[in-house]
Amino acid sequence: MNTYHRMPVVFTKGEGTFLTGTDGKCYLDFTAGIAVNCLGHGHPALVKAVKEQAEKLFHTSNYYQSDVSAAFAQKLIAAASGMTNLFFCNSGAEANEGAIKIARKYSFKKYGTGRFVIVTLKGSFHGRTITTLSATGQEKFHTNFGPFTEGFVFIEADAAHAVLERALTRPDVCAFMVEPVQGESGVRPMSDDFMKKAAALCARNDILFIADEVQCGMGRTGTFFACEQYGIKPDIATLAKGIAGGVPAGAVLAGEKAAAVLESGDHGSTFGGNALAAAAGLAVLNVITAPGFMAEIARKGEFFIQKLKEAAIPSIKEIRGRGLMLAADIEGGAAEALEKALAAGLLILSAGPNTLRFLPPYIISEAEIEEGIGILKRILA
Ligand SMILES: Cc1ncc(COP(=O)(O)O)c(C=O)c1O
Repeated sequence: MNTYHRMPVVFTKGEGTFLTGTDGKCYLDFTAGIAVNCLGHGHPALVKAVKEQAEKLFHTSNYYQSDVSAAFAQKLIAAASGMTNLFFCNSGAEANEGAIKIARKYSFKKYGTGRFVIVTLKGSFHGRTITTLSATGQEKFHTNFGPFTEGFVFIEADAAHAVLERALTRPDVCAFMVEPVQGESGVRPMSDDFMKKAAALCARNDILFIADEVQCGMGRTGTFFACEQYGIKPDIATLAKGIAGGVPAGAVLAGEKAAAVLESGDHGSTFGGNALAAAAGLAVLNVITAPGFMAEIARKGEFFIQKLKEAAIPSIKEIRGRGLMLAADIEGGAAEALEKALAAGLLILSAGPNTLRFLPPYIISEAEIEEGIGILKRILA
């Protein structure tokens, strides 16, 4: 179907931070498949894990136990500070659907009917299913798809205390859902003050705090969860994208409060956490939880920003982001810049009409960062 506007390039091979096209050209990848290929392309540990698992067993369904899924689950819980239980699915939207179900049931069991509203933010992006679109605070994604799931209200990102207070003291609210760093709408880290105030109001009013870490989690901002940088332990967190380095997977994780909400038969997935995805996820986790690895992501992010500033590109108006989740607002159109970058051998993303988004693989080198910025300087001149 005609859902994608694809760039005129066909990739056939990837190695590290580079992709090769059928045109014979090599492209420097600052997109990582939209925050998915976090270990880059063809990472030896990931390739080995997937190859070995494929030779043994792909999938058995969740009717049976799996050694590799259990190992992945244990490792993920160990990495995810404050989380005790998880459910495996296949994508970010599904992870958020799971989070919404948990929040609604938590409230229903404790308070009965009528407490089902979820407060989310304008500019948020939580997925493309009808319910995650209902949670998404961007009008442009809603056109033509109603009616939507009821029970979502939006407030401004970084809203004033009074606005937060009004929203998170409503008697019908069961959850607050936030991307600590909004991705699709421009790579916007929430302010410390806003996040802390929201977490405190949630705790006081028994409202579940859901962190959508689908894009900003798995180490992308320099800590496993972006929430850690705000000193917040969410009640529920969602992951997908980079979780298995390119094999489709997702997870919804819960801490103490929400860990036991879902019971047998409440939720399910045919593919979720299957052996192939779990083997890939375990390999990714082994790499990113190695001592010092996530600190390196933060350091590379700072290096990226510093070099981008030093490049003094006149059409760049603002640079922001955390770790290797970065953006630059430019004077011209982002779509045109993406095309020029492609022609010059650099893959970048947009996040809004005038915003360039950079989500390179974690294994990117300083030299590759400088090379990409050099290309940016030329194409934006
Ligand atoms: C923050 C966030 N949540 C959810 C999603 C949806 O993920 P998926 O496309 O895997 O369903 C995305 C995708 O871009 C995202 O950035």
